[in-house]
Amino acid sequence: MLVPVILSGGAGTRLWPVSRSAYPKPFMRMGDGESLLKKTLDRALRLADGGQVLTVTGRDYYFLTRDEYAQHAGADLDKLPFLLEPAGRNTAPAVVLAALHAREHVGADAVLLILPADHLIRDLDAFAADAQRAKALANDGWLVTFGIRPTHPETGFGYIRMGDAIANRAPAALPLPPSGHLPPLRGGREAEGDHSMGRQVGAFVEKPSHEVAESYVASGDYVWNSGMFCFRADTLLEVAAKVCPDVLKAAEACHAHAINHESPVEFAREAFLAQPDISIDYAIMERAPKVAVVPATFDWSDIGSWKAMSDLEAEADGDGNRVRGQAIVIESENCYIQSDTRMVAAVGVKDLVIVDTGDAVLVSHRERAQQVKLVVDRLRADN
Ligand code: GDD
Ligand code: MG
Repeated sequence: MLVPVILSGGAGTRLWPVSRSAYPKPFMRMGDGESLLKKTLDRALRLADGGQVLTVTGRDYYFLTRDEYAQHAGADLDKLPFLLEPAGRNTAPAVVLAALHAREHVGADAVLLILPADHLIRDLDAFAADAQRAKALANDGWLVTFGIRPTHPETGFGYIRMGDAIANRAPAALPLPPSGHLPPLRGGREAEGDHSMGRQVGAFVEKPSHEVAESYVASGDYVWNSGMFCFRADTLLEVAAKVCPDVLKAAEACHAHAINHESPVEFAREAFLAQPDISIDYAIMERAPKVAVVPATFDWSDIGSWKAMSDLEAEADGDGNRVRGQAIVIESENCYIQSDTRMVAAVGVKDLVIVDTGDAVLVSHRERAQQVKLVVDRLRADN
């Protein structure tokens, strides 16, 4: 039984002023008016056996998240249980708590598909096919990652060295995406005729230095870790017992002393905060013995900055300018302008990101968009 788990946490500070702690990145609307969170729920519901999707998020986002889910025509809110965190403790505790919950309420053999709420994937059929491949591997006891073919030496991602192919045990049961259907850019099962279910993970390197990332991209042997995972609840808990018993023990205590066990599940603050603040990548994936990677045939972006956003959103004019909302652009090149309320005019400028939310305006060089998080740091320091 496949149970998607939506992870929604973190403020997404590089997308200020739209993404803020009161209204973080998953709630951000794309050009089509849909939030990343709703798109994630849509991906999840297409795959959920029995329509059940688990969400792990901060207590403060419960009602906002439910409102977002309620807009999905296919969602039955009774089948969308929540685990509410009193504070962020990173992804390892969030995932282990989800596994403990699933083992109790669904069964130890529940296959969990971990989906961050702030990714954008457009080729939903390819995604579904890859997820089925991951599910088959998970049922064979693998912890599965989804690998994205890198386009540049990004240092904010984890890298996976791909090892030997894992043979397809039941070829007929695993639909491959139709040929000619593969997205040309990121992702892509490059070896045509590669009908294996996936590859063994040779090495897992979280957030390497720029030089190391460059050598990985040049080698062609590495893919980015998408941050999505698939495994059986019991496999994950058995591996956690071996490689991060401290995380497991703290999560078990938290689970055992939950304030209420039915959705929305709430945890005692003290027990929750006693969990180590560590990501699933460092705590589990890097140390686990049997990790597989499914090379993605779908397109993928985690929209890490306004530059990434501008590349995805809106059609560019002949000078490379992209506009969302109201703007007049005169003799300018390669700018992204997003304005929710007011008219923005740009004259004779180049390579700028301009985002106006009515109460705040961001003006940044396109290539410096990563540094927008420094604005948030400054705002926090001043308040
Ligand atoms: N519920 C919950 N609670 N969710 C969380 C928490 C938490 O405490 N912390 C993070 N998340 C969610 C975030 O919303 C995000 O969507 C996802 O988990 C991953 O967390 P990030 O903090 O964004 O991780 P990262 O970007 O540094 O790195 C991860 O993602 C990269 C791809 O985007 C790693 O998995 C990398 O290896 C990977 O390349
Ligand atoms: Mg991230």
